[in-house]
Amino acid sequence: MRSDFTQVLARVAEQGEPSLTEVVYLLRSEEADELEQLYAKARAIRDEYCGRRMVVRGLVEFSSYCKNSCNYCGLNRFNQGARRYRLSERDIFASADLIYRAGFRTIVLQSGEDAWPADQIAKIICEIKTRYDMAITLSVGERPKSDYKAWKDAGADRYLLRIESSDAALYQSLHQGRELKTRLKALEDLKDLGYQCGSGIMIGPPGQSLEHIAKDILYLIKQDFDMIGIGPFIPHPQTIYAHEKAGSLPITLKALALLRILSRNAWLPATTALGSLDRDYRVDALKAGANVLMPNFSPAEAKKNYEIYPNKRCIDECTEACPCSSGEIARAAGLKLDYSRADSLKPGFLGKID
Ligand code: 5AD
Repeated sequence: MRSDFTQVLARVAEQGEPSLTEVVYLLRSEEADELEQLYAKARAIRDEYCGRRMVVRGLVEFSSYCKNSCNYCGLNRFNQGARRYRLSERDIFASADLIYRAGFRTIVLQSGEDAWPADQIAKIICEIKTRYDMAITLSVGERPKSDYKAWKDAGADRYLLRIESSDAALYQSLHQGRELKTRLKALEDLKDLGYQCGSGIMIGPPGQSLEHIAKDILYLIKQDFDMIGIGPFIPHPQTIYAHEKAGSLPITLKALALLRILSRNAWLPATTALGSLDRDYRVDALKAGANVLMPNFSPAEAKKNYEIYPNKRCIDECTEACPCSSGEIARAAGLKLDYSRADSLKPGFLGKID
């Protein structure tokens, strides 16, 4: 073990505000004992600032239609082979019901960038809020601020919108015809409206360097997001990135640990992408500082067809079995399974603002 690694890690963990060089240096480590030091520090900080627990959120993928053309995503509009569906309101409520009965107190409604009318989504939000005491998280992409406002007024609590890259040139190369500044504006609108906001990146899409990742980490920390999701890029066979390499598992885990160390109290999911490589690495992610699991409660057909990348782990997990498999995952990571709504842990968050 290099003593300079220990020193840099200690400095970064205690004083924060690392330089780009320090983050790159820590991301570069490949020594097993250095990595164990990094993960141990991340776990200690998670336990101190968030409690020794893994919280669960129930995911519903309600539409696979998308007007975007993100090069990495199997749902991009140029993929003729993608199976498109929209869940009926009845199906959405049935999934919400399963989630609530499983004891979960947060539902995440996710879709491609579908042209689903804002008022219909508002109606669904309202209905779920009326029926259940659950936090609602939306993850439906970029929309005008007025839509975000209508959904907030209808009762939505949180919003997930990954930045994907904080570097304008890389952002553009991953997303044909779209610009980073529109993304930044959407995130600003969401914060402005009082949403608890989540963002994040993929590790390893074509063109991304370690420096890009380090810059993204610094950006995500500076923005003080309530939630940060990261996972490895997984090539989808029906995209132009079909033959690219998947993102690196160790770099993903190191980035996750650094996000924990630097953010202290952000909610960090052990993402489904991390569960969908050669084996399931979600327990490893929890051991590197993650503290959220998002079991998939979409109807079986939808789970299969919402194919942003291939071999999604959740497809072979039966929905009803989710709560017990969540328990096993938490136990394997030495964490207590926590069903609460688990709102933002940021000091500025005053709780439910209804
Ligand atoms: N591999 C890994 N993650 C992906 N995402 C989209 N496509 C892929 C892929 N091929 C991620 C993006 C998106 C989130 C919902 O899933 O970061 O924001």
